[in-house]
Amino acid sequence: MTTDSLSFIQGSETLTTSEQASLLENLSKIEDANVLVQNVSKAISLSASASSARELTQLPTSSCASTLDADVESKAHWRNTGLKAIADNQVAVLLMAGGQGTRLGSSDPKGCYNVGLPSSKCLFEVQSEKILKIQQLAAKEFNTEIPTLPWYIMTSEPTRKATESYFIKNNWFGLKSNQVTFFNQGTLPCFNLDGSKMLLSSKTELSNAPDGNGGLYKAIQANGILDDLKAKGIKHIHMYCVDNALVKVADPTFLGFAIDKKFDVATKVVRKRDAKESVGLIVLDSKINKPCVIEYSEISEELANKTEPEDANKLFLRAANIVNHYYSVDLLSEMVPKWISSQEYLPFHIAKKKIPSINDQGEFVKPTEPNGIKLEQFIFDVFPSIELNKFGCLEVERTEEFSPLKNADGAKNDTPTTCRQDYLALGTKWVKENGGIIEDGSFVEVSGLTSYNGEGLEFVKGKKFNNGDKL
Ligand code: UTP
Repeated sequence: MTTDSLSFIQGSETLTTSEQASLLENLSKIEDANVLVQNVSKAISLSASASSARELTQLPTSSCASTLDADVESKAHWRNTGLKAIADNQVAVLLMAGGQGTRLGSSDPKGCYNVGLPSSKCLFEVQSEKILKIQQLAAKEFNTEIPTLPWYIMTSEPTRKATESYFIKNNWFGLKSNQVTFFNQGTLPCFNLDGSKMLLSSKTELSNAPDGNGGLYKAIQANGILDDLKAKGIKHIHMYCVDNALVKVADPTFLGFAIDKKFDVATKVVRKRDAKESVGLIVLDSKINKPCVIEYSEISEELANKTEPEDANKLFLRAANIVNHYYSVDLLSEMVPKWISSQEYLPFHIAKKKIPSINDQGEFVKPTEPNGIKLEQFIFDVFPSIELNKFGCLEVERTEEFSPLKNADGAKNDTPTTCRQDYLALGTKWVKENGGIIEDGSFVEVSGLTSYNGEGLEFVKGKKFNNGDKL
């Protein structure tokens, strides 16, 4: 690194000679600064260019199914197939927990967040219980020893330490400690708004941020996760985001759907609520006959409002992406090296954010408006590289599977309160369906250890439960 490199750094002219020397030493640890600056300008032009090159339509029916209207036999067959793969120790779980949760505004990682359930369990505990329970159910169903679902947790520089210590402090939530593997995603420097300069978090250090959920692919390669999966004989992966309070971790029905239909990648979706809902959609780009994700901002009003020719109550494009995927390990082994080697598959996107940093005058500022750019890769950008007949899409019931924690209380949607309400409403529904008596307006909490998906609750029949009871 030469002093020329400092011309890429905002506020570097105001530094003393010794600060410049320390900064140059830190800069030598990152890849070529020139390349990064080129990447950011490409990302800025990508974000400005229209996505009209794509022709969007629904995925073909051969790629899709819905648990809302599939017949009972198909669902039972998928569940059985998935459960068998779990019993045979062929399944692993991959969790994305590297985000900084800026909208939620908690200083702890999102997985440690307590949404206010009567039990005060955090999201990590809720998810651990689902893993423990599905292991037990698989063993019971196939009369085997309790299998082990390896749980690979992707953290980032900002979330790693707190996440790992939380698991240790909570005795791994009942899991075996060697069942859980933490690994970090990469980070990238942050830039000023026009992308010409990198930002400093102090006079000698660059401001860095996680490289987006698409950083997952690079991270599983770089941290030896792919090798570990193969060494353990794992064939199937369930991947999901930490911030879904209703996630069915290692859902056997979803796994079985993908295994049965020989898909290499499958994605769970929920039905888009209405034409205006701000969600990404899983669609087909009919120009290239490949699956892709379209962001809500990229879809025309006309297409967003279009309904099914035979059912005006259903939107034509309604497969809302909840970032909940199945991958075959064979596919990951073959494609990850390709995906991470070229921006063709994983381009950088920009997110304008408020980034505390050194300004042009050399002062450290905490901005109130976005002052910079974070570079992010998106996990779904690789979908168009999957053959259409190897890509599946399973629609599931939103109230049973998806309640994201995005915002602090006070916001309209996706808050601790909505997560708590959705979690309690589902357990309460199961108890009522099994003949439990609960006053209208009251809610009980059903632990994942008691029931994975409403099963095993026959014991509640005829019993009365009060608001806040825990089962
Ligand atoms: P979001 O895109 O909602 O980001 O992540 P976030 O960090 O949780 O929240 P905001 O946008 O800062 O408010 C969706 C999921 O992807 C993971 C998150 O941990 C969450 O599970 N994620 C996101 C990563 O693992 N790494 C990233 O770089 C970004």
